[in-house]
Amino acid sequence: MGGWGLVEVRRAGIYGTGYSLPGKVLTNRELEGMVDTTDEWIFQRTGIRERRILEKGRPGYELAVEAAGMAMERSGTLPGDLGLIIATTITPDYFAPSLASIVQGKVGAGKAFAFDLGAACCGFVYALAVADGLIKSGTCEKILIVSCEIHSRVVDWTDRATCIILGDGAAAAVVGPATDGTGLMETYMGTDGRYGHLVTIPNGYLGAEDIGNRAGAEKRVFWQDGKEVYKFAVKVMAEAAGKVLDKAGMTYADMDMVVPHQANLRIIEGAMRRMDVDPDKVHRDIATTGNLSSASIPYSLSQLDRGGRLRLGDNVLLVGFGAGLSWGSAYMRWSC
Ligand code: UT7
Repeated sequence: MGGWGLVEVRRAGIYGTGYSLPGKVLTNRELEGMVDTTDEWIFQRTGIRERRILEKGRPGYELAVEAAGMAMERSGTLPGDLGLIIATTITPDYFAPSLASIVQGKVGAGKAFAFDLGAACCGFVYALAVADGLIKSGTCEKILIVSCEIHSRVVDWTDRATCIILGDGAAAAVVGPATDGTGLMETYMGTDGRYGHLVTIPNGYLGAEDIGNRAGAEKRVFWQDGKEVYKFAVKVMAEAAGKVLDKAGMTYADMDMVVPHQANLRIIEGAMRRMDVDPDKVHRDIATTGNLSSASIPYSLSQLDRGGRLRLGDNVLLVGFGAGLSWGSAYMRWSC
Protein backbone atom coordinates (compact mmCIF):
# COMPACT_ATOMS: atom_id res chain seq x y z
CA MET A 1 0.00 0.00 0.00
CA GLY A 2 1.44 3.34 -0.94
CA GLY A 3 1.18 6.33 1.37
CA TRP A 4 -1.12 9.24 0.80
CA GLY A 5 1.78 11.34 -0.42
CA LEU A 6 1.55 15.05 -1.03
CA VAL A 7 -0.44 16.40 -3.95
CA GLU A 8 1.77 18.68 -6.00
CA VAL A 9 0.18 22.12 -6.46
CA ARG A 10 0.52 23.34 -10.04
CA ARG A 11 0.09 27.04 -10.55
CA ALA A 12 0.65 29.28 -13.57
CA GLY A 13 4.09 30.84 -13.21
CA ILE A 14 5.68 33.39 -15.54
CA TYR A 15 8.79 31.84 -17.17
CA GLY A 16 9.80 34.88 -19.21
CA THR A 17 8.57 38.20 -20.55
CA GLY A 18 8.95 40.31 -23.70
CA TYR A 19 7.77 43.53 -25.25
CA SER A 20 7.86 45.55 -28.45
CA LEU A 21 7.17 49.23 -29.03
CA PRO A 22 6.97 50.95 -32.41
CA GLY A 23 9.87 53.24 -33.30
CA LYS A 24 7.92 56.46 -33.81
CA VAL A 25 7.75 58.68 -30.73
CA LEU A 26 4.89 61.20 -30.49
CA THR A 27 5.70 63.85 -27.88
CA ASN A 28 3.31 66.15 -26.05
CA ARG A 29 4.96 69.03 -27.89
CA GLU A 30 4.04 67.47 -31.23
CA LEU A 31 0.45 67.02 -29.99
CA GLU A 32 0.35 70.77 -29.34
CA GLY A 33 0.39 71.16 -33.13
CA MET A 34 -2.45 68.66 -33.62
CA VAL A 35 -5.07 69.60 -30.98
CA ASP A 36 -5.69 72.48 -28.56
CA THR A 37 -3.45 71.28 -25.72
CA THR A 38 -0.12 71.87 -24.00
CA ASP A 39 2.72 69.69 -22.79
CA GLU A 40 2.14 71.13 -19.31
CA TRP A 41 -1.58 70.22 -19.26
CA ILE A 42 -0.97 66.68 -20.44
CA PHE A 43 1.90 66.04 -18.01
CA GLN A 44 0.13 67.53 -15.00
CA ARG A 45 -3.18 65.75 -15.68
CA THR A 46 -1.79 62.36 -16.79
CA GLY A 47 1.95 62.02 -16.10
CA ILE A 48 2.52 61.29 -19.81
CA ARG A 49 5.40 62.91 -21.74
CA GLU A 50 5.33 60.86 -24.93
CA ARG A 51 3.83 57.73 -26.50
CA ARG A 52 4.75 55.42 -29.38
CA ILE A 53 2.74 55.27 -32.60
CA LEU A 54 2.86 52.42 -35.10
CA GLU A 55 4.21 53.41 -38.48
CA LYS A 56 1.65 53.65 -41.32
CA GLY A 57 1.47 50.53 -43.46
CA ARG A 58 2.80 48.22 -40.75
CA PRO A 59 0.41 45.59 -39.32
CA GLY A 60 -0.06 45.70 -35.57
CA TYR A 61 0.47 41.95 -35.20
CA GLU A 62 4.17 42.46 -35.95
CA LEU A 63 4.58 44.01 -32.50
CA ALA A 64 2.81 41.02 -30.94
CA VAL A 65 5.10 38.60 -32.80
CA GLU A 66 8.21 40.51 -31.66
CA ALA A 67 7.07 40.61 -28.03
CA ALA A 68 6.23 36.89 -28.19
CA GLY A 69 9.66 36.11 -29.66
CA MET A 70 11.41 37.94 -26.82
CA ALA A 71 9.34 36.18 -24.14
CA MET A 72 10.05 32.79 -25.74
CA GLU A 73 13.76 33.50 -26.00
CA ARG A 74 14.03 34.73 -22.41
CA SER A 75 12.18 31.68 -21.12
CA GLY A 76 14.04 29.18 -23.33
CA THR A 77 10.76 28.19 -25.00
CA LEU A 78 10.70 26.67 -28.49
CA PRO A 79 7.63 27.22 -30.70
CA GLY A 80 6.78 23.51 -30.52
CA ASP A 81 6.66 23.68 -26.70
CA LEU A 82 3.58 25.92 -26.73
CA GLY A 83 0.18 24.28 -26.18
CA LEU A 84 -1.87 27.47 -26.26
CA ILE A 85 -1.61 31.11 -27.30
CA ILE A 86 -3.96 33.65 -25.73
CA ALA A 87 -3.85 37.11 -27.26
CA THR A 88 -5.49 40.07 -25.56
CA THR A 89 -6.51 43.07 -27.63
CA ILE A 90 -9.30 45.57 -28.23
CA THR A 91 -7.61 46.89 -31.36
CA PRO A 92 -6.96 43.84 -33.59
CA ASP A 93 -5.96 44.13 -37.23
CA TYR A 94 -8.70 41.60 -38.07
CA PHE A 95 -11.89 40.31 -36.43
CA ALA A 96 -10.93 37.01 -38.05
CA PRO A 97 -8.51 35.38 -37.89
CA SER A 98 -7.78 36.12 -34.27
CA LEU A 99 -4.56 37.90 -33.33
CA ALA A 100 -3.60 34.73 -31.44
CA SER A 101 -3.95 32.66 -34.63
CA ILE A 102 -1.77 35.09 -36.56
CA VAL A 103 0.92 34.96 -33.87
CA GLN A 104 0.68 31.14 -33.79
CA GLY A 105 1.35 30.99 -37.52
CA LYS A 106 4.15 33.55 -37.46
CA VAL A 107 6.08 31.99 -34.56
CA GLY A 108 5.47 28.46 -35.90
CA ALA A 109 3.76 27.10 -32.77
CA GLY A 110 2.13 24.24 -34.68
CA LYS A 111 0.96 22.34 -31.58
CA ALA A 112 -0.79 25.32 -29.98
CA PHE A 113 -4.46 26.20 -30.21
CA ALA A 114 -5.08 29.92 -30.13
CA PHE A 115 -7.77 32.42 -29.26
CA ASP A 116 -8.25 36.09 -28.38
CA LEU A 117 -9.56 37.29 -25.06
CA GLY A 118 -11.29 40.67 -25.06
CA ALA A 119 -11.30 42.31 -21.66
CA ALA A 120 -9.66 45.64 -22.48
CA CYS A 121 -7.17 46.79 -19.84
CA CYS A 122 -7.92 43.73 -17.65
CA GLY A 123 -7.03 41.36 -20.51
CA PHE A 124 -3.66 40.21 -19.19
CA VAL A 125 -4.91 39.51 -15.66
CA TYR A 126 -7.91 37.58 -17.03
CA ALA A 127 -5.65 35.64 -19.41
CA LEU A 128 -3.39 34.69 -16.49
CA ALA A 129 -6.44 33.36 -14.63
CA VAL A 130 -7.51 31.31 -17.67
CA ALA A 131 -3.96 30.00 -18.13
CA ASP A 132 -3.82 29.04 -14.45
CA GLY A 133 -7.03 27.00 -14.77
CA LEU A 134 -5.78 25.17 -17.85
CA ILE A 135 -2.42 24.46 -16.25
CA LYS A 136 -4.03 23.23 -13.02
CA SER A 137 -6.37 20.93 -14.96
CA GLY A 138 -3.44 19.50 -16.92
CA THR A 139 -4.93 20.67 -20.27
CA CYS A 140 -1.85 22.76 -21.09
CA GLU A 141 1.79 22.98 -20.10
CA LYS A 142 3.34 26.05 -21.71
CA ILE A 143 1.08 28.95 -22.69
CA LEU A 144 2.00 32.20 -24.45
CA ILE A 145 0.01 35.26 -23.41
CA VAL A 146 0.53 38.17 -25.78
CA SER A 147 -1.13 41.57 -25.38
CA CYS A 148 -1.07 44.06 -28.23
CA GLU A 149 -2.83 47.38 -28.69
CA ILE A 150 -2.66 49.76 -31.65
CA HIS A 151 -4.80 52.59 -30.32
CA SER A 152 -3.52 55.09 -32.88
CA ARG A 153 -5.74 53.44 -35.50
CA VAL A 154 -8.99 53.78 -33.54
CA VAL A 155 -8.38 57.07 -31.78
CA ASP A 156 -10.12 60.32 -32.71
CA TRP A 157 -7.17 62.62 -33.37
CA THR A 158 -9.43 65.65 -32.93
CA ASP A 159 -10.55 64.64 -29.40
CA ARG A 160 -7.96 66.23 -27.13
CA ALA A 161 -9.25 64.49 -23.99
CA THR A 162 -8.63 61.02 -25.46
CA CYS A 163 -5.88 61.10 -28.07
CA ILE A 164 -3.34 62.36 -25.54
CA ILE A 165 -3.58 59.38 -23.18
CA LEU A 166 -3.28 56.36 -25.49
CA GLY A 167 -0.20 54.72 -27.01
CA ASP A 168 0.69 51.66 -29.12
CA GLY A 169 2.68 48.65 -27.95
CA ALA A 170 2.79 44.95 -27.20
CA ALA A 171 4.03 42.74 -24.38
CA ALA A 172 4.07 39.02 -23.74
CA ALA A 173 4.71 36.36 -21.14
CA VAL A 174 5.37 32.64 -21.39
CA VAL A 175 3.50 30.91 -18.61
CA GLY A 176 3.97 27.36 -17.42
CA PRO A 177 3.46 25.11 -14.42
CA ALA A 178 5.14 26.31 -11.23
CA THR A 179 5.43 23.62 -8.58
CA ASP A 180 7.92 25.34 -6.28
CA GLY A 181 5.42 27.44 -4.35
CA THR A 182 5.61 30.33 -6.83
CA GLY A 183 3.07 31.35 -9.49
CA LEU A 184 -0.44 32.76 -9.45
CA MET A 185 -1.76 32.52 -5.90
CA GLU A 186 -5.05 34.43 -5.98
CA THR A 187 -7.22 36.58 -8.26
CA TYR A 188 -10.17 38.92 -7.82
CA MET A 189 -12.08 39.84 -10.97
CA GLY A 190 -15.36 41.49 -11.81
CA THR A 191 -17.40 43.31 -14.43
CA ASP A 192 -20.28 45.77 -14.29
CA GLY A 193 -21.76 45.83 -17.78
CA ARG A 194 -24.31 48.48 -16.82
CA TYR A 195 -21.52 51.01 -17.34
CA GLY A 196 -20.21 49.56 -20.59
CA HIS A 197 -21.20 52.71 -22.47
CA LEU A 198 -18.49 54.72 -20.64
CA VAL A 199 -15.66 53.35 -22.83
CA THR A 200 -16.51 52.18 -26.33
CA ILE A 201 -14.97 51.26 -29.67
CA PRO A 202 -17.86 50.50 -32.04
CA ASN A 203 -17.52 48.02 -34.88
CA GLY A 204 -16.65 50.19 -37.87
CA TYR A 205 -18.86 48.12 -40.18
CA LEU A 206 -22.03 49.11 -38.33
CA GLY A 207 -23.96 52.31 -38.85
CA ALA A 208 -24.51 54.69 -35.92
CA GLU A 209 -28.21 53.67 -35.89
CA ASP A 210 -27.21 50.00 -35.42
CA ILE A 211 -25.37 50.78 -32.21
CA GLY A 212 -27.86 53.06 -30.54
CA ASN A 213 -26.48 56.46 -31.57
CA ARG A 214 -24.29 56.59 -28.50
CA ALA A 215 -21.62 59.25 -28.12
CA GLY A 216 -18.65 58.39 -30.29
CA ALA A 217 -20.64 55.83 -32.28
CA GLU A 218 -21.05 57.98 -35.35
CA LYS A 219 -17.29 58.37 -35.68
CA ARG A 220 -16.57 54.71 -34.85
CA VAL A 221 -13.60 55.66 -32.75
CA PHE A 222 -12.34 55.03 -29.22
CA TRP A 223 -14.66 57.11 -27.06
CA GLN A 224 -14.77 57.51 -23.30
CA ASP A 225 -16.39 59.54 -20.58
CA GLY A 226 -13.02 60.35 -19.03
CA LYS A 227 -14.34 61.90 -15.82
CA GLU A 228 -16.66 58.99 -14.96
CA VAL A 229 -13.99 56.42 -15.79
CA TYR A 230 -11.50 58.33 -13.65
CA LYS A 231 -13.77 58.21 -10.56
CA PHE A 232 -14.57 54.54 -11.12
CA ALA A 233 -10.90 53.67 -11.63
CA VAL A 234 -9.58 55.25 -8.42
CA LYS A 235 -12.20 53.45 -6.34
CA VAL A 236 -12.11 50.05 -8.03
CA MET A 237 -8.30 49.80 -8.20
CA ALA A 238 -8.03 50.23 -4.44
CA GLU A 239 -10.94 47.83 -3.83
CA ALA A 240 -9.65 45.12 -6.17
CA ALA A 241 -6.14 45.32 -4.71
CA GLY A 242 -7.48 45.07 -1.15
CA LYS A 243 -9.82 42.17 -1.97
CA VAL A 244 -7.18 39.96 -3.57
CA LEU A 245 -4.84 40.51 -0.62
CA ASP A 246 -7.66 39.63 1.81
CA LYS A 247 -8.43 36.45 -0.16
CA ALA A 248 -4.76 35.47 0.04
CA GLY A 249 -4.38 36.44 3.71
CA MET A 250 -1.66 38.94 2.76
CA THR A 251 -1.09 42.65 3.36
CA TYR A 252 0.45 45.48 1.35
CA ALA A 253 3.50 45.22 3.60
CA ASP A 254 4.03 41.64 2.35
CA MET A 255 4.25 42.83 -1.27
CA ASP A 256 7.58 43.45 -2.96
CA MET A 257 6.05 45.13 -6.02
CA VAL A 258 2.64 46.51 -6.97
CA VAL A 259 1.99 46.84 -10.71
CA PRO A 260 -1.10 48.95 -11.47
CA HIS A 261 -2.58 49.46 -14.94
CA GLN A 262 -0.95 52.63 -16.27
CA ALA A 263 -3.95 54.65 -17.47
CA ASN A 264 -3.18 57.98 -15.85
CA LEU A 265 -0.60 58.75 -13.15
CA ARG A 266 -3.22 60.66 -11.16
CA ILE A 267 -5.47 57.59 -11.11
CA ILE A 268 -2.58 55.51 -9.75
CA GLU A 269 -1.78 58.13 -7.11
CA GLY A 270 -5.47 58.50 -6.17
CA ALA A 271 -5.81 54.74 -5.75
CA MET A 272 -2.55 54.59 -3.78
CA ARG A 273 -3.93 57.05 -1.26
CA ARG A 274 -6.73 54.56 -0.58
CA MET A 275 -4.25 51.69 -0.14
CA ASP A 276 -1.95 51.27 2.83
CA VAL A 277 1.01 50.81 0.49
CA ASP A 278 4.58 52.12 0.43
CA PRO A 279 4.64 54.37 -2.71
CA ASP A 280 8.17 53.18 -3.49
CA LYS A 281 6.76 49.72 -4.18
CA VAL A 282 4.26 50.97 -6.74
CA HIS A 283 5.57 50.75 -10.30
CA ARG A 284 4.98 53.74 -12.59
CA ASP A 285 6.15 53.88 -16.19
CA ILE A 286 3.37 55.71 -18.04
CA ALA A 287 5.55 58.75 -18.94
CA THR A 288 7.08 57.21 -22.05
CA THR A 289 4.27 54.93 -23.29
CA GLY A 290 0.88 56.42 -22.41
CA ASN A 291 -1.96 54.01 -21.75
CA LEU A 292 -1.28 50.66 -23.48
CA SER A 293 -4.59 49.12 -22.39
CA SER A 294 -4.21 45.32 -22.11
CA ALA A 295 -0.49 45.57 -22.90
CA SER A 296 0.10 47.92 -19.95
CA ILE A 297 0.55 45.44 -17.10
CA PRO A 298 2.64 42.90 -19.07
CA TYR A 299 4.73 45.78 -20.46
CA SER A 300 5.47 46.94 -16.91
CA LEU A 301 6.32 43.37 -15.90
CA SER A 302 8.70 43.05 -18.85
CA GLN A 303 10.48 46.27 -17.84
CA LEU A 304 10.79 45.18 -14.21
CA ASP A 305 11.98 41.74 -15.33
CA ARG A 306 14.62 43.17 -17.70
CA GLY A 307 15.76 45.64 -15.07
CA GLY A 308 16.37 42.79 -12.60
CA ARG A 309 13.77 44.30 -10.25
CA LEU A 310 11.90 41.03 -9.70
CA ARG A 311 13.47 38.05 -7.98
CA LEU A 312 12.34 34.45 -7.73
CA GLY A 313 9.67 34.26 -5.02
CA ASP A 314 8.95 38.01 -4.88
CA ASN A 315 5.37 38.88 -3.95
CA VAL A 316 3.83 40.81 -6.82
CA LEU A 317 0.39 42.41 -6.93
CA LEU A 318 -1.18 43.26 -10.31
CA VAL A 319 -4.26 45.47 -10.48
CA GLY A 320 -6.20 46.77 -13.47
CA PHE A 321 -9.50 48.28 -14.57
CA GLY A 322 -10.99 49.19 -17.91
CA ALA A 323 -13.75 49.02 -20.48
CA GLY A 324 -16.61 46.72 -19.54
CA LEU A 325 -16.45 48.23 -17.05
CA SER A 326 -14.16 45.60 -15.57
CA TRP A 327 -11.56 45.15 -12.90
CA GLY A 328 -9.06 42.47 -12.02
CA SER A 329 -6.27 41.93 -9.55
CA ALA A 330 -3.83 39.10 -9.12
CA TYR A 331 -1.35 38.17 -6.44
CA MET A 332 1.57 36.08 -7.63
CA ARG A 333 4.95 34.88 -6.43
CA TRP A 334 7.44 35.63 -9.18
CA SER A 335 8.61 32.43 -10.89
CA CYS A 336 11.73 33.33 -12.88
O1 UT7 B 1 -7.98 52.63 -20.15
C1 UT7 B 1 -9.02 53.38 -20.77
C2 UT7 B 1 -9.88 53.99 -19.71
N1 UT7 B 1 -9.78 55.42 -19.69
C3 UT7 B 1 -9.14 56.09 -18.70
O2 UT7 B 1 -8.51 55.55 -17.85
C4 UT7 B 1 -9.29 57.60 -18.70
C5 UT7 B 1 -9.64 58.11 -17.32
N2 UT7 B 1 -9.78 59.56 -17.33
C6 UT7 B 1 -8.71 60.41 -17.40
O3 UT7 B 1 -7.57 59.97 -17.44
C7 UT7 B 1 -8.98 61.90 -17.34
O4 UT7 B 1 -10.34 62.12 -17.05
C8 UT7 B 1 -8.60 62.66 -18.65
C9 UT7 B 1 -7.10 62.66 -18.86
C10 UT7 B 1 -9.28 61.99 -19.86
C11 UT7 B 1 -9.06 64.11 -18.54
O5 UT7 B 1 -8.47 64.71 -17.39
P1 UT7 B 1 -9.35 65.51 -16.32
O6 UT7 B 1 -8.44 66.03 -15.31
O7 UT7 B 1 -10.45 64.57 -15.84
O8 UT7 B 1 -9.94 66.68 -17.17
P2 UT7 B 1 -11.48 67.08 -17.39
O9 UT7 B 1 -12.15 66.09 -18.27
O10 UT7 B 1 -12.07 67.39 -16.03
O11 UT7 B 1 -11.34 68.44 -18.17
C12 UT7 B 1 -10.89 69.64 -17.53
C13 UT7 B 1 -10.71 70.70 -18.60
C14 UT7 B 1 -11.90 70.81 -19.54
O12 UT7 B 1 -12.07 72.15 -19.88
P3 UT7 B 1 -13.20 73.06 -19.17
O13 UT7 B 1 -14.50 72.36 -19.47
O14 UT7 B 1 -12.86 73.03 -17.69
O15 UT7 B 1 -13.06 74.37 -19.81
C15 UT7 B 1 -11.44 70.06 -20.76
O16 UT7 B 1 -12.06 70.51 -21.94
O17 UT7 B 1 -9.58 70.37 -19.40
C16 UT7 B 1 -9.96 70.39 -20.78
N3 UT7 B 1 -9.14 69.43 -21.49
C17 UT7 B 1 -7.94 69.74 -21.97
N4 UT7 B 1 -7.23 70.87 -21.97
C18 UT7 B 1 -6.01 70.86 -22.54
C19 UT7 B 1 -9.41 68.13 -21.75
N5 UT7 B 1 -8.38 67.58 -22.43
C20 UT7 B 1 -7.46 68.56 -22.58
C21 UT7 B 1 -6.18 68.61 -23.18
N6 UT7 B 1 -5.51 69.78 -23.14
N7 UT7 B 1 -5.63 67.54 -23.78
